[in-house]
Amino acid sequence: MTLQFNDETFRGDYSYYNTDRAIRRFPFPFDRDDYMYSVNIEPHPGGPEGSVFEHRFDVDEHYVSEMRDRAITLDEDPLRCQSLPHMELAGWDLLEIIMVSKSEDYPDLFALHRDGNRWHWINRPLGIEQRFTFLDPTTLPCGPMEYITRQTQGDFALLDEREGNLWMDAGMVTSQADWSLDFDVGMNFFEWHAPVPKAKRLGVFDRALKFLLAMRQGQEYRRLNWTMTVNPRLDTSPENYHKWGPEKRTVTPENVGRKQHLRVELQTFWRLPRSNAIAFPIRCYLACLEDICTQPKWGRRLHRVLRDIDPALAEYKGFAVNQKVIVDYLAQFDDGAPTSAGI
Ligand code: HEM
Repeated sequence: MTLQFNDETFRGDYSYYNTDRAIRRFPFPFDRDDYMYSVNIEPHPGGPEGSVFEHRFDVDEHYVSEMRDRAITLDEDPLRCQSLPHMELAGWDLLEIIMVSKSEDYPDLFALHRDGNRWHWINRPLGIEQRFTFLDPTTLPCGPMEYITRQTQGDFALLDEREGNLWMDAGMVTSQADWSLDFDVGMNFFEWHAPVPKAKRLGVFDRALKFLLAMRQGQEYRRLNWTMTVNPRLDTSPENYHKWGPEKRTVTPENVGRKQHLRVELQTFWRLPRSNAIAFPIRCYLACLEDICTQPKWGRRLHRVLRDIDPALAEYKGFAVNQKVIVDYLAQFDDGAPTSAGI
């Protein structure tokens, strides 16, 4: 296999790490020195070779360990994966898109052989081989969405379209930035976005929903979102806030560079062929401040963004409590030089 997979943890001893290659391809989300919410949606046509945008579903050095972490979370709390009965077809659509994409984009890691509805799937990194009948759930060990998302990095929401709105009627959510599938399942686009400050007044959600409803098959889009996380923890869920919330109080000027992580979500949007649902994968990338600051233009820019950010966003994203320590640390990487627009 061409990719080497890290043996690492996202809890307990937090042995997660990024190699130099992973740092260089990290999706740094800021194209200017300040930040405010916007409808930052762009086509997802495939990107520069080696970048996280190159393939439809990025597979990287964290793959095997992330899937292990998902299995632990699901063992502890099966409600992280839910699918309302009318969403099974969307689950098959998602399974097809992922299996086809991965087998085409990573032929040394994944293979899919299809003979009519008789499919044969091989996932070499996880040691899985499965023969099944497409659209027949009795031939898989679990539902189609659960089956494929236990083998795919990132969280997933499947959205049903009706009454001019999108409804979060299925999902696999084990690496979320402090929101709960169990709470949001069955909600519509405006309901699940209600806790977000500022954006509604800026018209972001009205415009974003209009855009998504107009999406047709074969038009994939993406956007980046970001937040800050103490320790490289994937499962920062409200359900487990008692485990990770107190860790915010362990940040000091001495350890902030290793402990404080920039958490970037590569979110993509897919109109699904049979169900007409929308799939919303949310792929999480984590890098500690030390790693980020190995790239001088990133350290400089992150300092300015976090120093000047609207207090409501710092509060919502959960890092207001450590903002001063973070900004003081980053200041050493900001030489005051002007930065140009673009990443
Ligand atoms: C936050 C889901 C699309 C903008 C969130 C949250 C959820 C979510 C669950 C967390 C809310 C909370 O605090 O409980 C989704 C789903 C989408 C989608 C399932 C797919 C249809 C979009 C789009 C935009 C957007 C298209 C704008 C272009 C935002 C913003 C936040 C947010 C600005 C706050 C994020 C932060 O500051 O960290 N979204 N969203 N979302 N969403 Fe979406």
